[in-house]
Amino acid sequence: MKSLIVYYSYTGNTQKVAEALKGILSKKGEVDIFALEPEDESDSFFMQCVRAFRKKRASLKAMPPDVSGYDLICLGNPVWAFAPVPAMNTYIDSLKDLTGKEALCFITYGSGTGADRCLDTMDAELKKKGASKVGNFKVQQGEVKDKDLVEKKIRDKMPENMYNTG
Ligand SMILES: Cc1cc2nc3c(=O)[nH]c(=O)nc-3n(C[C@H](O)[C@H](O)[C@H](O)COP(=O)(O)O)c2cc1C
Repeated sequence: MKSLIVYYSYTGNTQKVAEALKGILSKKGEVDIFALEPEDESDSFFMQCVRAFRKKRASLKAMPPDVSGYDLICLGNPVWAFAPVPAMNTYIDSLKDLTGKEALCFITYGSGTGADRCLDTMDAELKKKGASKVGNFKVQQGEVKDKDLVEKKIRDKMPENMYNTG
């Protein structure tokens, strides 16, 4: 099994979770990890919220590898204004056919407002693209530094039949 992790992280929380996920998946097969970097990200909290809430897309400096060589596609980002970030919207748009592939969405979040809405949005988009199973998990920003807890969440929230990560 070969996995691809594509994530966006503005302040590093989601990156830590992505790396923990890579550590777990690496025990079961080959894993590639790719950080989305927008060319046009605003550093204003307000503008970041507005753009995410309005489902804007971002121009990306580079695109991740084609998904055709992977069995499992993992997408991670922070919740911004109850929604995925513009860079993730762009990447999900670019995905063509995920038929026969499994998908795993993960988020980090602060207050938790809109966290489930964000995950539901990502799950629904990946199902529309044909992913056979979509698992997900979420990590609160204060939990990110607790590696054992993050790893437990990853293992607990992955569908058992998706990946045996034991
Ligand atoms: C622009 C912006 C909007 C945010 N909106 C939400 C939100 O709607 N709900 C929430 O629970 N957290 C929200 N947060 C908190 C982030 O989701 C949280 O801090 C996350 O862990 C950041 O991940 P990162 O370090 O990978 O960028 C927001 C943060 C930013 C910067």
